[in-house]
Amino acid sequence: MITCQSDAAVLEAEHITKSYDGRTIIRDISIHLNQGELVSLLGLSGSGKTTLFQVLSGLTSPDEGRVLLRGKEITGQPGYVGYMLQKDLLLKHKKIIDNVSLPMVLKGVKKEEARKEAKRYFAEFGIDGTEDFYPSRLSGGMRQRAALLRTYLAADGVALLDEPFSALDMITKGQIHKWYLGVMEKIRLSTILITHDVDEAILLSDRIYLMTGNPGEIRHELPILPPRKERREFNLTTGFLEYKKRILEILDPSGNE
Ligand SMILES: Nc1ncnc2c1ncn2[C@@H]1O[C@H](COP(=O)(O)OP(=O)(O)OP(=O)(O)O)[C@@H](O)[C@H]1O
Ligand SMILES: [Mg+2]
Repeated sequence: MITCQSDAAVLEAEHITKSYDGRTIIRDISIHLNQGELVSLLGLSGSGKTTLFQVLSGLTSPDEGRVLLRGKEITGQPGYVGYMLQKDLLLKHKKIIDNVSLPMVLKGVKKEEARKEAKRYFAEFGIDGTEDFYPSRLSGGMRQRAALLRTYLAADGVALLDEPFSALDMITKGQIHKWYLGVMEKIRLSTILITHDVDEAILLSDRIYLMTGNPGEIRHELPILPPRKERREFNLTTGFLEYKKRILEILDPSGNE
């Protein structure tokens, strides 16, 4: 089957190893993200997913290996890749517009210009009219979208999302999934998503990396078919259940699933 995804990697991690206090947390991890792809990173708690994101975003330097953005090395250099943290998110004492435009301001863009640029996307991100609110006035889903907008504006077309949807109820989650895939396409965004939610990973991903072990390693790379755009009620198909079974077996070989 022909997939419409291009093979041009926007982000590549090569042989990343990282230790903290003499303990190896992740070992020899190589992953890549193609243009327009959504790739999930799925693994048990403590397998080093957030640590890998810290390295990919340049917030931490690896002990070994390198990170490339469109072929250019960015290892240990923050500011190139948009990173939405596992724990939120928005600064309480700043208005939404200033929260969202903050990364641009930090990069040296004038405040008014940054606000104007950010404002252009408010409708697309479903938060039009909230510019002058403080985060506490927004619902969880709206705060999530504001944080996603901030991540997008901080990035050069690449977003790393660390469990962005985990706090949402099932209905809101479903709506945000659909919306996010639409936005990704419209604004040409490529995404790596960390999630604990196996269903979410299968439904949203072009490919899934399964991380296991201590130190954490990539145990499996699993392309998900049919291609995203051809999926209809995917979660009701036997194909979906087979992926789920396989993933659960890999993550927990001793489980009774
Ligand atoms: N800054 C740090 N200093 C020391 N140890 C750290 C640091 N950051 C992470 N670790 C350790 O690395 C291991 C992996 O943590 P990490 O947060 O990367 O896992 P994770 O896969 O994201 O887990 P979760 O799914 O629970 O978010 C943990 O044992 C953690 O204690
Ligand atoms: Mg984590």
